[in-house]
Amino acid sequence: MYQNILAEVAEGIMTITINRPDKLNALNKQTIAEVGMAIETAEKNLDVRGVILTGSGTKAFIAGADISEFASFSIEEGSALAAHGHRVFNSVENCSKPVIAAVNGFALGGGCELAMACHMRVAAENAKFGQPEVKLGLIPGYGGTQRLPMLIGKSKAMELLMTADMVDANEAYRLGLVNYVVPQEQLLDKCREILSKIKGQAPIAIAEITRTVNAHYDYKTDGFQEEINRFGACFGTEDFIEGTQAFLNKRKPEFKAK
Ligand code: COA
Repeated sequence: MYQNILAEVAEGIMTITINRPDKLNALNKQTIAEVGMAIETAEKNLDVRGVILTGSGTKAFIAGADISEFASFSIEEGSALAAHGHRVFNSVENCSKPVIAAVNGFALGGGCELAMACHMRVAAENAKFGQPEVKLGLIPGYGGTQRLPMLIGKSKAMELLMTADMVDANEAYRLGLVNYVVPQEQLLDKCREILSKIKGQAPIAIAEITRTVNAHYDYKTDGFQEEINRFGACFGTEDFIEGTQAFLNKRKPEFKAK
């Protein structure tokens, strides 16, 4: 079904692997579209409770947008490419199931941007992050100018965007860009460990967390009002009744995503 990614579901987790190792998993249009399709499938599949996004091999998560694909693009084609990326990356950011980037090497350009669109990032010790677009006469086109300052603050984001410098995993951790740094061989297990904690919580509440936190960064939405609305809506769920009854009766809740 997919040409450039692998998507498999095990124990309630969909693992999406960008699978172009000979191109360091560079993102061409088709690969971006396939990520979008996999996220849509994860949204619809009731068995999927979380998503891990990673790259094939041990050298690169994603070494950026596929430079060979866009090298001869016009203004219109460049704009369309960015719009395509934004649509898919927004679907990752707004996915109702938690999405964790398992960054197993270079996360450059579009790779850094896709990792930033995920809800959390776990880095292998060899991971390197950067937005080198200015070297190509470009700026980031998949949300990097917006999400990098959001995650690490404007000053440092400006520096990385303007110098094209890469930061290693420990520096990325210090900057708040990644949640954890682990040895490469523990990377997926660490992501699964985080997701297994989330799997124990009420799924609708988890989706509402994503929606309300993201509302803070959407200038058209009043995040505080969104919180009031969604907090109220939670009272209409069966899982709220189950969660509160389980607490009062000193037993473990059994959530049904209803
Ligand atoms: N687009 C297209 N192809 C890419 C790519 C990208 N973003 N990044 C790497 N590749 C390809 C290389 O062209 C090479 O292909 P080839 O074997 O057919 O020549 C292959 O992947 C391996 O990359 P190579 O450059 O030989 O590996 P390296 O270890 O010497 O360097 C990087 C690794 C990541 C530092 C280097 O590949 C790089 O700078 N890539 C581009 C990063 C970038 O600018 N990304 C932002 C794009 S907007």
